[in-house]
Amino acid sequence: MSTEPASGIAAPATIRLRHLTQAKEQGRPFSMLTAYDQFAAKAFEAAGVEVLLVGDSVGTTVLGYDSTTSTTHQDMLTFTGAVARSVTRPLVVADLAFGTYEAGPAEALRHSVELVRAGAGAVKLEGGEEVAPQVRALARAGIPVFGHLGFTPQSVNSLSGHRVQGRDPQGAQKMREDALALQSAGAAAIVLELVPAAVAASVTASLSVPTIGIGAGPDCDGQVLVWQDMAGLSGFQGKFVKTFADLRPQLERAAQQFRAEVAERSYPGPEHSFE
Ligand code: KIV
Repeated sequence: MSTEPASGIAAPATIRLRHLTQAKEQGRPFSMLTAYDQFAAKAFEAAGVEVLLVGDSVGTTVLGYDSTTSTTHQDMLTFTGAVARSVTRPLVVADLAFGTYEAGPAEALRHSVELVRAGAGAVKLEGGEEVAPQVRALARAGIPVFGHLGFTPQSVNSLSGHRVQGRDPQGAQKMREDALALQSAGAAAIVLELVPAAVAASVTASLSVPTIGIGAGPDCDGQVLVWQDMAGLSGFQGKFVKTFADLRPQLERAAQQFRAEVAERSYPGPEHSFE
């Protein structure tokens, strides 16, 4: 495994929050990918990706749920542990599952402590100034916390589907206020999802903590994608997704070849068989 990062943050053995802040200050964009399992996590670490997000998107990408609202805290503990045990360099961020933090700081703290015990270096929750008390409690307890504004998937039902947020001046202003409220409460970084590029740029410029965009244009301090989208496994081709690899057809071809060789008894050959 290469230890040489080919990315925006120079060479520390372990990525810490201060490296993300430095990257923002130096104008060096950094990368975050979702990861849920050992081999993907190790591949992204070898590629130099600075932050791995054990997203609650594990529910829709791995577990077959329709929405991240079905992802449970136990799911998050299981997959956070898998990723955290597999890598040493990237910062591992774990999502707080729907229903584990909305009730208040005590609930948020209890569930975050369990995610940290499972190996998370930071947790992420969705929402604006209404979750500032939770963010404050976590920051005071020494748990780095990322915010998440714009389209917040756990609110897909009240947002009436996957829609760009902050297009109107009031929405954009509210997003700026929410971002400042999260930063004042102690958030270490803020994910901006499905936000007009100009709004994301102005939120980014107004903060001292980094923003990480997904469908939020080029001016965020970092960028995040769901790995199965960027690697062409999920088949999801939203406007903001670039397909950096085409794994689904490759996997299908490999499975077809395996099946064909099994059917014609050419696999396993003598070289795969024991005396
Ligand atoms: O769960 C997830 O994958 C996320 C990203 C969309 C940022 O929160």
